[in-house]
Amino acid sequence: QDNALLDPHGRRITYLRLSVTDRCDFRCTYCMSEDMVFAPRAQILSLEELYTVADAFIGLGVKRLRITGGEPLVRKNLLSLLGRLGQRSELDDLAITTNGSQLAHMAADLRAAGVTRLNISLDSLQRERFAAFTRRDRLDQVLEGIAVARHAGFRRVKLNTVVQKGRNDDEVQDLVAFAVAQGIDISFIEEMPLGSISSHERKVTLCTSDEVRERVAQRFELLPSSHRTGGPSRYWQVLGSDTQVGFISPHSRNFCGDCNRVRVTAEGKLVLCLGHEGALDLKALIRRHPGDSERLRGALIEALRLKPERHFFEADQQVQVVRFMSMTGG
Ligand code: GTP
Ligand code: 5AD
Ligand code: SF4
Repeated sequence: QDNALLDPHGRRITYLRLSVTDRCDFRCTYCMSEDMVFAPRAQILSLEELYTVADAFIGLGVKRLRITGGEPLVRKNLLSLLGRLGQRSELDDLAITTNGSQLAHMAADLRAAGVTRLNISLDSLQRERFAAFTRRDRLDQVLEGIAVARHAGFRRVKLNTVVQKGRNDDEVQDLVAFAVAQGIDISFIEEMPLGSISSHERKVTLCTSDEVRERVAQRFELLPSSHRTGGPSRYWQVLGSDTQVGFISPHSRNFCGDCNRVRVTAEGKLVLCLGHEGALDLKALIRRHPGDSERLRGALIEALRLKPERHFFEADQQVQVVRFMSMTGG
């Protein structure tokens, strides 16, 4: 079936980010607070409901699916869901964004289930800094996970680094060197104002993609690259290697014009834009009308008429979204 998900700004939605849990074994400072209260289990979509949602989107022409969290790999029986999704031939891409803590023992099973790409968060290669970012002393576990994942046969493995001034901006060259040595990609991300973390603090630590790229270019030759993953990241290739260095720049370069995605939170809320609060309660609809896929698809098409044109994360506009990153997984 042709893609039916068209928004009023002329954008087609071909990519769904599906959060399977709001829970996580880390507590990254930019994502959640230490005493984060998670949603009661009854509020979280069951695996069957998650499949129902994914199936409706696939029926409407979604070709790429990214599983997010919280930390998706802490969701019980996730592999059974992935196995079903991995068999859907309509999907060009079945990806996961993970903190890496479970990869050492799960990477092979993920690949076998049909996962094609992995993004792994890594903000520092220094043990103490890593622990300061994540509030957990687990660097070794994540590094082991990366080492296993890179040999597990995924199409691509990418690291994600949120860059903060004074915390890890002096490490970006080392992180690129690490990615090159591992034969994987890396994206540097400008932090977005989600959750109740003071915006004053964020202004101090904001490090723009241009600053990061200049720093990386002092040690590596970066060639403009046509590599695209269908997302907001813009890539550069490290000369003499396979590594693509990406920049996700919500503050310094708005990418909403070619947005192709929506999100579903672990609680089953359809979020039309990461930078807005508005959401449609798919869980209520599914639970009220179980098995009514026609109605669900109709609601998705209808909801798309409300997709905002863009986010307003730019520093001068001071928009703060109350929803924590862990609800949408980015
Ligand atoms: P692909 O596009 O599938 O390669 O993934 P990605 O690198 O965009 O996704 P990932 O889950 O690794 O997220 C990396 C960062 O990009 C996170 O900080 C996300 O919040 C951010 N991000 C991804 N998509 C969007 C988007 O549409 N809008 C905004 N503002 N940020 C996004
Ligand atoms: N701003 C930007 N990126 C964030 N992430 C989590 N919180 C934020 C934020 N506030 C990143 C994580 C992970 C991805 C899902 O989103 O580092 O790689
Ligand atoms: Fe967990 Fe990812 Fe949030 Fe860190 S950014 S607390 S790893 S969900």
